[in-house]
Amino acid sequence: MAPFQALAVAAVLLPLLLQCGAAVTEVSCANMVPMKWRREVISITDFGAVGDGKTLNTWPFKKAIYRIQHMRKRGGTLLYIPPGVWLTGSFSLTSHMTLYLARGAVIKATQNTWNWPLVDPLPSYGRGRELPGKRYMSFIQGDGVSDVIITGENGTIDGQGEVWWNMWRQRSLRFTRPNLLEFKDSKDILISNVVFQNSPFWNIHPVYCSNVVIKYVTVLAPYDSPNTDGIDPDSSSNVCIEDAHISTGDDLVAIKSGWDEYGIAYGRPSSGITIRRVSGSTPFAGIAIGSETSGGIEDIFVENINLYNTGFGIHIKTNVGRGGYIRNVTITNVSMNKVRKGIRIAGDVGDHPDEYFNRLAIPSVDRVTIKNVWGVDVQQPGTIEGIRSSPFTRICLSNVKLWGASSQAEQQWQCMDVSGAALGVRPWPCSELTGSTFSAGFCTSAL
Ligand SMILES: *[C@@H]1O[C@H](CO)[C@@H](O)[C@H](O)[C@H]1NC(C)=O
Ligand SMILES: *[C@@H]1O[C@H](CO)[C@@H](O)[C@H](O)[C@H]1NC(C)=O
Ligand SMILES: *[C@@H]1O[C@H](CO)[C@@H](O)[C@H](O)[C@H]1NC(C)=O
Repeated sequence: MAPFQALAVAAVLLPLLLQCGAAVTEVSCANMVPMKWRREVISITDFGAVGDGKTLNTWPFKKAIYRIQHMRKRGGTLLYIPPGVWLTGSFSLTSHMTLYLARGAVIKATQNTWNWPLVDPLPSYGRGRELPGKRYMSFIQGDGVSDVIITGENGTIDGQGEVWWNMWRQRSLRFTRPNLLEFKDSKDILISNVVFQNSPFWNIHPVYCSNVVIKYVTVLAPYDSPNTDGIDPDSSSNVCIEDAHISTGDDLVAIKSGWDEYGIAYGRPSSGITIRRVSGSTPFAGIAIGSETSGGIEDIFVENINLYNTGFGIHIKTNVGRGGYIRNVTITNVSMNKVRKGIRIAGDVGDHPDEYFNRLAIPSVDRVTIKNVWGVDVQQPGTIEGIRSSPFTRICLSNVKLWGASSQAEQQWQCMDVSGAALGVRPWPCSELTGSTFSAGFCTSAL
């Protein structure tokens, strides 16, 4: 038995106990994918890895995971990453494993981009999100896996994205940049107590997944880093994001479901998504839905969000050509400090994959409730701009108070092609909402 084993065992139990303690006092969906004990523990150093920040450890990571995959130990295997800086190329996870990062462990992506592997585009996107054709493989990926845990003592997964951001800025990218972590066609995934930083592109991307819990994570990227979305649940169901701090260069959390004609053909919705106790800042949106909505997005619940220095507090966005729907969304208890626009719901956002998108594929937006929102230093309270041939319906704003900076004149809401109701909204919202029946059953006064 290796000496690190006892340590690793203690370290696995500690967060587990803390988590159970917390569950008594706070609402949580952590039990959806519980923390799990692994019978076998191996260390990346058993495979010749060197944590000096210089040695490239791609081969040790591949060997270790190959071993887990082929030994198939009952109860699964924990791969322990000790303190140190572990430089590596991209690698794939396998089922029934825990990737455990000790305190002070950093898994760092190589900046050598020229032989970075390529993977097929996602069928619901038809091409890479940024550029036509294939896309670079995510730094860490799980494809078709189940029962995977990434956890530890707040070790770091660092994408060293600057080299990629610079290629984007210089327009010298050949394919779509890699995500930092992607799970595709996977289920029963738990990600907790890990720091993600400097992703080349989106940070955490569960796509075609179910039963995914992401909690106690920190996601960081510079304010000006391009497209570094925090967490993007995409065509996935039963996803829960809790207790996260996210500060990045793009949307903190964005729920998506595929892109125009490719997303419509693939037809895979995002549903049953819970987001709670998330804080952070971004030049774009705190909580975003869309703009890729082609497979449909429904049954979304968001609560206890704290945003500052943010472009849009809440941004629900789609476009003609997307098709699909956004429906049954509840967002409650959001505080905002220093935001450009509090709430934006819009039907003209986002680009198209190619010229073959269907101009008759009109998305619908129905039953969106936004309540208990408190904002200060808000430049503009909000805009709701539906689609003329498909106005947004049953939009409910309840107890929404968005105050400008004291020096500013009171700003106005702007609306078109929308119906719904408003209760206790300051500044007073547009007539499209206030003009409808006051006793509208879908919009009752907030608790
Ligand atoms: C890790 O960081 C989170 C904050 O994201 C904190 O709640 C948790 O206690 C930390 N865990 C450890 C083991 O340090
Ligand atoms: C709306 O979504 C919530 C989850 O936020 C779900 O519990 C509820 O059943 C959904 N309502 C309907 C009518 O589908
Ligand atoms: C609202 O959210 C904040 C965190 O942003 C939390 O501290 C507070 O307890 C929440 N209020 C309610 C009523 O849940």
